Amino acid sequence: MANITFESPVMGKDVTVYAVAGHRGTILSVAKAHKIPIPFDCGDGDCGSCVVEVKHLNPKVRYGIGLTEKEKELLKQIGKITKEEIENTEVNDMPPRHRLACQCFVRDEDIRVIFDGDEVLPAKKPAVSIAAAIFSGGLEINSLAEFLGYAVKVEAEAAEHFDDLAKDMEKCGNTEVAELFKKLSGYSRLHHDEVKAQAGELDTELYMPEEHVWPDLVTPEQTELWAGDPWLSKLDALKAALHGERLGFEFYHHLAETSALPEIRTMAKEFAKEESEHVAILEQWIARERH
Ligand code: FES
Repeated sequence: MANITFESPVMGKDVTVYAVAGHRGTILSVAKAHKIPIPFDCGDGDCGSCVVEVKHLNPKVRYGIGLTEKEKELLKQIGKITKEEIENTEVNDMPPRHRLACQCFVRDEDIRVIFDGDEVLPAKKPAVSIAAAIFSGGLEINSLAEFLGYAVKVEAEAAEHFDDLAKDMEKCGNTEVAELFKKLSGYSRLHHDEVKAQAGELDTELYMPEEHVWPDLVTPEQTELWAGDPWLSKLDALKAALHGERLGFEFYHHLAETSALPEIRTMAKEFAKEESEHVAILEQWIARERH
């Protein structure tokens, strides 16, 4: 028996299909045959867009899970398999939690397949289109390691920048704005650590971009504020921070739409989503401050 139950927030309800022996193929091919909307791009284990969680309903199943080096490597790159899982796979033949639907063959067992659905990029707003134009000006990133190198740099410098601003504000006694910058620095640091974790063993240091590659000679996400201004209002600080976060959003958004490499598009899409959440938080703070 091979009953496959698909579960996703993009489907109204779970769908169970029966994969007939001899015609099973991969999870992705079964999904396609039953019009289950698992997102996919390359169909060949190269991009990671078809990542799914697979639950084996019979806990005793632990044979020949068929995780190829290619799938393992990609799952590693997109942060969907841990060291322990790899070890468990290699030593005990235990299946990892996540698989690539285009690489994972359905076998004679019941499974539950959970996926998120293709999260469409947040729409660009007219207010940020200038930044979009800047980043379409020839910034070429040719590998996932290079992309992650850029992302590490962007987030590290944003965190440092907000820390400096917080210190300046504290010196001038503007503690309210100082607190705000500390919070923003915390967000960037968190994202920086996430990017580092995603990079795993990839050597991002090799690809740290120099200042001159950026159109304004500074990394995105930096505000236009450089020195301590004792009169800086909370509202102005928020607006400047919003400008920086929008540039960060544009950077990732541009790559998610234009990179020739599917794995970069997938990851840039995730980061753009994250930045759009920061933009939304800042917009809410600004709206509150105005009232
Ligand atoms: S569609 Fe499966 S890895 Fe690209």
